[in-house]
Amino acid sequence: MLELLRERRSIRKFTSEPVAPEDIRKLLGAALLAPAGMGKKPLEFIVIRDRETITHLQFLKAHGTAPLASAPLAIVVIADTRKTDTWVEDASIAAILIQLEAVRLGLGSTWIQIRLREGGEGSSEDAFRKKLGIPDGYGVLNVIAVGHGAEEKSPHTDADMDFSKVHYERF
Ligand SMILES: Cc1cc2nc3c(=O)[nH]c(=O)nc-3n(C[C@H](O)[C@H](O)[C@H](O)COP(=O)(O)O)c2cc1C
Repeated sequence: MLELLRERRSIRKFTSEPVAPEDIRKLLGAALLAPAGMGKKPLEFIVIRDRETITHLQFLKAHGTAPLASAPLAIVVIADTRKTDTWVEDASIAAILIQLEAVRLGLGSTWIQIRLREGGEGSSEDAFRKKLGIPDGYGVLNVIAVGHGAEEKSPHTDADMDFSKVHYERF
């Protein structure tokens, strides 16, 4: 597991090779196995492979959307906020599991934050809801750009593990 975690880097440039349908299914399978507060299942996912749609999403948030310029796949993590008060935690766990499964499959990915962010059309969450037909009552956590990496990044090392952040018995 630590090896996988070392290898997970945010990959922001992708080749044009599509992600294989069986790999897309594995990414979503990982997300669907995520634990959730009180076992409620508030999460849903929107899988986007259409280049025009992915390009459009890039402009619904002011900064940090560069990975969508080349990603052949975007997965939007949404949740029915009426089902639970832990939807942000639930969605975040599912999102990182997608990213870790991507590493395992030899794919790259980047978490692009949507919740609490703004773009040219105002709230990025509202703009995503409108563009993708997401009903009111659903929160949009993020969109994960996924694809075959077109950039190399060194894995994290032990030096990235700052054990001074760990407190034993009390702060
Ligand atoms: C909550 C959260 C929000 C993030 N938002 C963005 C984003 O909007 N755009 C982006 O390019 N990267 C985003 N990232 C990726 C971080 O910038 C990245 O994880 C961090 O710089 C560490 O680099 P690494 O992922 O290669 O270890 C986000 C990551 C997290 C966990």
